[in-house]
Amino acid sequence: MEKVNLISGMRSTGRLHLGHYMGVITNWVKLQDEYNCFYFVADWHALTTKYDNTQNLRQDKLDVVLDWLACGIDPDKSVIYFQSKVLQIAELHILLSMITPNNWAERDPTLKDMVKILKNKENDTSDNMPQMTYGLLGYPILMSADIMALNAAIVPVGIDQLAHLEITRDIARRFNNIYKTDLFNEPKPKLTEIPLLLGVDGQKMGKSFNNDIKISDDEETTSKRIMQCVTDRTRARKDDPGHPEQCEVAFKYYQAFANEETVQQVECECRAGKRGCADCKRQLGKIINEKFAPIREKREEYKKDTDKVYDIINEGSKKAALEAEKVMKKVRDAVNI
Ligand code: TRP
Ligand code: SF4
Repeated sequence: MEKVNLISGMRSTGRLHLGHYMGVITNWVKLQDEYNCFYFVADWHALTTKYDNTQNLRQDKLDVVLDWLACGIDPDKSVIYFQSKVLQIAELHILLSMITPNNWAERDPTLKDMVKILKNKENDTSDNMPQMTYGLLGYPILMSADIMALNAAIVPVGIDQLAHLEITRDIARRFNNIYKTDLFNEPKPKLTEIPLLLGVDGQKMGKSFNNDIKISDDEETTSKRIMQCVTDRTRARKDDPGHPEQCEVAFKYYQAFANEETVQQVECECRAGKRGCADCKRQLGKIINEKFAPIREKREEYKKDTDKVYDIINEGSKKAALEAEKVMKKVRDAVNI
């Protein structure tokens, strides 16, 4: 049986953190054998909020791909590309924008959250949405174009993206109805089971919260950051019995990155008051550094040979465009344009 198309993208946020690694990338790596995977950097989407701050955009896009390659996204198995190199997506975006009622985008709760975050950044407390642009309003329609241009059936995303994907399904259905065709799949989300990794301070991990550990951070930076991890706050002295289940970050990281045996040992010693938190985190730093050493090494190699990386991206972009062109031929026929 032919494999179906699977698509997922990330905005070009620059170097990725351990939350991306656990929550998204390991999952993408696994999916490579089961599906025709298309993984892309959503650089147009980055512009929906950062149109006036593009100095680092090119470096950020490259950094994302370097992290993917280092973590095992394999260009021989998956198509890796930049969204802005596949012009068919822009063409489809225009056609979809014609048939999408304004209020479908306006009531997208994820988009509302994005606007709130933008407002907070600019300390704007007014009720109108001064920084809401035409492009940002079109965020879910552009995302629909990404997915539908490849007529992908499966979209691995986090819960935060489900509202966007619901709009994609509505748009696909509406297109099929209006143009009396069965051209488009209604793409299905594929939720990751891996729980999200928190930042070292116990809040959501994110670049802007300054609580993240990057995949490509060096050993020293990583160890220092790990020492900042929140532990069992009820514990005053190191021979007090601890509660791993209340150790909000450090023990969770052990569960994510250490082997079963180590996790059990840590748990026992912690409960028995035989393990101090500082020592515990020192060991955790070592474990994480060991785990990421080969990944960081591989990343360094790619970084030394960016020509090769751009070749991979250009090659992938061509493949994606070819696939999208097949779909667009049918779309143009359906619309009679
Ligand atoms: N909106 C997604 C995010 O912020 C990125 C994205 C853009 C995407 N287009 C997509 C994800 C298409 C899946 C499919 O994470
Ligand atoms: Fe957490 Fe380790 Fe401290 Fe126990 S000893 S509370 S597991 S950091």
